[in-house]
Amino acid sequence: MIGAEKNNQLVDSFGRTINYIRMSATDRCDFRCVYCMAEDMSFIPREKLLTLEEMAFLGRAFVELGVKRIRLTGGEPLVRKNVLSLFRRLGNLSGLDELLLTTNGSRLQAYSSELASAGVSRINISLDSLNPDRFRAITRHGDLNRVLRGIDAAQDAGIGRVKINAVIIRGQNDGEVIDLINFARGKRIDISFIEEMPLGHVGERNRRESMVTSAEVREIIRTEHDLVASATKSAGPSRYYRMLDSDIRVGFISPNSHNFCGHCNRVRITCEGRMLLCLGEEHSIDLRAVMRHHPGDMGILKKTIQDGISIKPERHHFYDKNRPQIVRFMNATGG
Ligand code: GTP
Ligand code: 5AD
Ligand code: SF4
Repeated sequence: MIGAEKNNQLVDSFGRTINYIRMSATDRCDFRCVYCMAEDMSFIPREKLLTLEEMAFLGRAFVELGVKRIRLTGGEPLVRKNVLSLFRRLGNLSGLDELLLTTNGSRLQAYSSELASAGVSRINISLDSLNPDRFRAITRHGDLNRVLRGIDAAQDAGIGRVKINAVIIRGQNDGEVIDLINFARGKRIDISFIEEMPLGHVGERNRRESMVTSAEVREIIRTEHDLVASATKSAGPSRYYRMLDSDIRVGFISPNSHNFCGHCNRVRITCEGRMLLCLGEEHSIDLRAVMRHHPGDMGILKKTIQDGISIKPERHHFYDKNRPQIVRFMNATGG
C-alpha cells in the first residue's frame, strides 16, 4: 500500500519510507545568522507554539508509526524554557533509535551533560567562522568563544558524535574553509559544508550569487588536503569524503547543486505544529489543530499523519526562477 500505512510505517506516494523527523522546538534564537533570519524578526506568539507536552505526544505518535530518529532543531532549541524535559521524554520512547540535536552551541556548556543523560547521541553545531569579528558579523549576536567552549563541553560530556555545520557564503567566510577543516581535524570532529538555501527574505544580498557550491568548497580544500569520496552513508543528504591522514568525515550538503530528494526519508514539524512535508515546498498539515480539537486522541493524530504523508512532494525547486521564493524562514521550520 502506498501513501498510507504499510506494516505500520509511513510511506509516501513515491515509495519513500519516512523514518526521521526534524522538530523545531522554537523559532526563537539568541543569534540572527544572516542566512537564516532577518535582523529584525518578529517571532510567533507563545500560544501558537506547540507545548512541550504536545511535542512529546507527537514524537510518540511518529515513533509508533515507525520513525527511528528525532532531531530537535529551531531556532535554537536550547533557548526554549524546560526543553530538557522534552529531551528526557523523547529519549524514553521505546522504538526510537536516535535522539539528535542541531544547535548554535551557545548553551552547550550548561546543557551538554544533561543532554547526554537524556540520551542525545549526536549533536550538530553551527560554526561558520573562527574569526571572532566575522563570527559576530555572520551571527549578528554570537560570541565565538562561548560556542567553542560549547563544542568542548559536548565532546567532554561524551556525546557520541559531534559535527560542525558551516554555511559558506562568498565574500564572507569563503576564505576560512581551510581554517575550518584544520579546526575539525585538530578536534577530531566531523564537519559538513552546506550550500545556502533561499528560505525567507534575509536582506539585500543576492543569495544565488553568494552561494558557494560544494564542488567549489572541495576545490578549496584540495589545495591543502587530499579528499577521497567515502562510501559512508548517513540517514541524511550529506555526501562524505575522508582524508588519508585524519579520521574525520567531511560532509557536503548540496541541496542546490546535487538533488537528493529521491532518497528523502524525513518530514519536519514546525514550532507551530505544522507537519511540513518538504523543506523547499509549502505542503503541510496542521497537527496542532488535530491535537487541540482531540486532546489525547492518539488514533486520530496517527491517522492524520498517515494520510498527510501522501501529499509529500517529489522534490524541492530552490533557485528556480519559475517558482515563487519560499517566504518561510529556516528558524520556524525545523532547520
Ligand atoms: P542528519 O541528517 O541527521 O545526519 O544531519 P544533517 O546534517 O542533515 O542535519 P543538520 O540539522 O545538521 O542540518 C544540516 C543542513 O542540512 C541544514 O541546513 C538542513 O536544513 C539541511 N538539510 C537536512 N535535511 C535536509 C533535507 O532533507 N533537505 C534539504 N534541502 N536540506 C536538508
Ligand atoms: N541555508 C542552508 N543552511 C541553513 N541553515 C540555516 N539557514 C540556512 C539556509 N538558508 C543551517 C544552519 C544550521 C542548520 C540547522 O541549518 O547553519 O547548521
Ligand atoms: Fe539561530 Fe541557527 Fe538560525 Fe543562526 S542558523 S539564527 S543559530 S536558528
